[in-house]
Amino acid sequence: MLFIALEGIDGSGKGTQAKLLCSWLRDKGYSCYLTAEPTDNNIGRLIRKYLKEDNFDPRAIALLFAADRSLHIKDILSKLHSDNMVITERYFYSSLAYQGALGINIDWLEEINSFAPEADIVFYLDIEPEEAIKRMTSLSSFRNTREKESYEKEEFLRRVRQNYLKFAEEREKFNVIDASKSIREVQTDIRRRLGRILSFIEEEKKKGRQTRLEDLL
Ligand code: TMP
Repeated sequence: MLFIALEGIDGSGKGTQAKLLCSWLRDKGYSCYLTAEPTDNNIGRLIRKYLKEDNFDPRAIALLFAADRSLHIKDILSKLHSDNMVITERYFYSSLAYQGALGINIDWLEEINSFAPEADIVFYLDIEPEEAIKRMTSLSSFRNTREKESYEKEEFLRRVRQNYLKFAEEREKFNVIDASKSIREVQTDIRRRLGRILSFIEEEKKKGRQTRLEDLL
């Protein structure tokens, strides 16, 4: 089964796209487990508290994200072993992009996350920070509860996006999706790419061959 990560800056539409993708997979007969980072466990909740503060220590929060992930991975692996497709909204790539944009050394971030297996496929939803912020502020729920989150500032998101775009050049698992399009168009693009991979896996299975996703990505 596949381990799929959805990545992108705040306001890029990951949550909506993850839900739509999971329901499409279920319609196709797969079991799908939808999850996200930061998680809902104690460390994840602590992280959300820190994110509301302006002056938290970026290295400390990077370590908290890694700790949260360490617990999360156990859950992910057990779902993969019981034949689920797993879709996570954010994974360690978020730490590299976000904490990296706060000036933390990316090699060190990779090192503290080196226990985390790579996702099989990453869909990176690319959008201009200006557009993403416009989307977020048009949601009244966001205005009420999240506008103080210091992460969601245009200048910062610009640096985060640069990091993601760099990863997309360096990492073959990264699929760049134009997230400025409509929800439907973005979803169609993701499904088309994933559909190709699924047909390839099914074909290989029929032939009794081991799947080499790298051939397709
Ligand atoms: P969310 O809005 O997707 O729930 O994520 C909360 C914030 O946490 C978001 O601004 C991105 C940030 N984040 C990091 O900075 N590093 C990480 O490793 C993860 C998973 C999220």
